[in-house]
Amino acid sequence: MECHPVHHEASAACTGCHRGDPRTRRLELAHRDLIAGRFAHFALPGSLVVARGQQVLERAGCRRCHVTGGRGNGLATDLDQLLQGATPAETMGALQQPALFMPRFALTEPATVELVNALYAGSAGAPRRTGETPVVVHFEQAAPPESAFETHCGGCHRMLSRMQGGLGRGATGPNLTGLLGEFYPGTYKDRERWTPASLRRWVMNPRDTRPLATMPPRSLPDQELERILAAFEAGGGTAR
Ligand code: HEC
Ligand code: HEC
Ligand code: HEC
Repeated sequence: MECHPVHHEASAACTGCHRGDPRTRRLELAHRDLIAGRFAHFALPGSLVVARGQQVLERAGCRRCHVTGGRGNGLATDLDQLLQGATPAETMGALQQPALFMPRFALTEPATVELVNALYAGSAGAPRRTGETPVVVHFEQAAPPESAFETHCGGCHRMLSRMQGGLGRGATGPNLTGLLGEFYPGTYKDRERWTPASLRRWVMNPRDTRPLATMPPRSLPDQELERILAAFEAGGGTAR
């Protein structure tokens, strides 16, 4: 308070929005794990920054894999729990240098800042859970040889699955985690969500749906296609 003008005093204490350590006068200690102002909008009711961040989050489909704001598939780290401790820099870093089975989202700096505000807003409302372990993702474990996704799609795509962990090794096509679930963005056509019927149609001939599609048609035995559909249905199944 000796260093800064007081603001938003009706909403919370400084540490409620900025964290830091109020017990010390030493700059580097007081500012430890600080949440700078541009990330602190999460605590302001009706914030437009948070609203824009939530749109970024929906379009990217973060909930295909993560829980945030109490909802999501929980295949990877629970972001509500993570953001109760993580700094904005750590969170930005995870987006800029994504883990192997996390897509690389080419977001602009302002969009990323908005997104991080939305993640903090989701986390602020979440109860502190202890003792609950997230779904374990087995990166090192080779996929079982009978995986139809691995054989027919894995050369170009990746996905996280509840039963088998990370599948696929390609990155020429998008990460298909949760394709048939509620959190995958509506990318089929006219912002429609993917359904088993549209996926069947797409796989037979992508250019039927998108004239400029670069994915080659895949002719698979019906049985194999059914197994791929089953894997997608199991993957996004138990959403929170
Ligand atoms: C309800 C949340 C909230 C509270 C409480 C709050 N701030 Fe902020 N603070 C913000 C936001 C949001 C910004 C950025 C934009 C703005 O000024 O509204 C900010 C910006 C700042 C800045 C400008 C530097 C920067 O990082 O952007 C300083 C310094 C600051 N706050 C200090 C304080 C101090 C000291 C207190 C306690 C007296 C405090 N704040 C309380 C949300 C809050
Ligand atoms: C296809 C699945 C997938 C999607 C979609 C996804 N992530 Fe991730 N993310 C992962 C995986 C896998 C990791 C590695 C850590 C783990 O296993 O949980 C990770 C890690 C992270 C981490 C670091 C977690 C830690 O434990 O340090 C953050 C932060 C994060 N993701 C944020 C996001 C945000 C924000 C979005 C949306 C823009 C997003 N992720 C979309 C799969 C995904
Ligand atoms: C030779 C590489 C290749 C293979 C093999 C492949 N795909 Fe693709 N896929 C792509 C590319 C590239 C795209 C990017 C979209 C485009 O072409 O317009 C894509 C896009 C998609 C999309 C659209 C996703 C979206 O959000 O827009 C779906 C769904 C899809 N593929 C499913 C599959 C399935 C299921 C298989 C296996 C049966 C498969 N793909 C095999 C390359 C491939």
